[in-house]
Amino acid sequence: MAKVILTGDRPTGKLHIGHYVGSLRRRVEMQNSGEFDKIWIMIADAQALTDNFDNPDKVRANITEVALDYLSVGLDPKKSTIFVQSHIAELTELTFYYMNLVTLARLQRNPTVKAEIKQKNFEMSLPMGFLTYPVSQTADITAFMADTVPVGEDQLPMLEQAREIVRSFNGLYGETLVEPKAVLPSNKSCLRLPGTDGMAKMSKSLGNCIYLSDSADEIKRKVMGMFTDPNHLRVSDPGDTKNNPTFIYLDAFAKDEHFAAYAPEYANLEEMKAHYERGGLGDMKVKKLLNAVMQETLEPIRTRREEIAKDIPAVWDMLYEGSEEAKARAAATLDAVKKAMRIDYFADRK
Ligand code: TRP
Repeated sequence: MAKVILTGDRPTGKLHIGHYVGSLRRRVEMQNSGEFDKIWIMIADAQALTDNFDNPDKVRANITEVALDYLSVGLDPKKSTIFVQSHIAELTELTFYYMNLVTLARLQRNPTVKAEIKQKNFEMSLPMGFLTYPVSQTADITAFMADTVPVGEDQLPMLEQAREIVRSFNGLYGETLVEPKAVLPSNKSCLRLPGTDGMAKMSKSLGNCIYLSDSADEIKRKVMGMFTDPNHLRVSDPGDTKNNPTFIYLDAFAKDEHFAAYAPEYANLEEMKAHYERGGLGDMKVKKLLNAVMQETLEPIRTRREEIAKDIPAVWDMLYEGSEEAKARAAATLDAVKKAMRIDYFADRK
């Protein structure tokens, strides 16, 4: 079976370092490994509209931002096809047929959807489009016959639901669709990077994100203002590294080489953590190292982003080409789906 990746992001804001360690970094590694037959990266604008339908301009502007973020971290349109979801009308058609295979109760039980409904206070005004977005996400994945979906932990319930729909489709209409599996980061700190304020998740509305496009000054200001261990009052006090975002970020970003360059008194992060835990290591020192690591990691990304941003029309040309290719691939799947369902009435007249 062909090894095919599909993944994507909603264009509701610029991408931040949580996206980077949670998924983007891995995608680039997978892209460059040469192990995959095809890689599809989708900007999920139609999904973004399910809770931003009153603000399409915001979604539109963020398609450009997300595309710039993709290109600046090293996704390469020669190796990965980057496309815009709404261009592929076939995805909507697939969604319509898959909706028959899911119950309302099952959608309402989806833990991610459930949490989002609560968080957005939809109550009685819950849009149908929002409730059914896991079905549309199943269409996204299956349209490309993807078997591998690199995502963050919050997307696991989507993948579970996609597998269920694929199984019921194949059971009813015959083996047609591929059951996808999620690929999560192996490092626990990367699964869910906390905000700079120590909150469980980075989110634009909380103002606790470091963006891939942040300037050197912004990064420094954000790192220096980070929440640490509130009980670590004096340098000599023993400190906690487990619920301390500065150490979680170091876990996600620091390599041994960084210690050699910026904190040679430690061979690696384990030694530095041990020092903090026994007492005698101040937060300022930890933050200075973290700032150096973040600057070194983000500087090349930011520079590339600025370079690519000089020609936005070229970015949209790339998206158009990718979207046309994606449309052709999804159309072939739709044909196979209609054939399996025995609704391909006019196939022989094409
Ligand atoms: N739901 C994903 C997110 O919020 C975006 C997405 C849409 C996606 N369709 C997908 C991810 C298909 C993986 C596969 O980030």
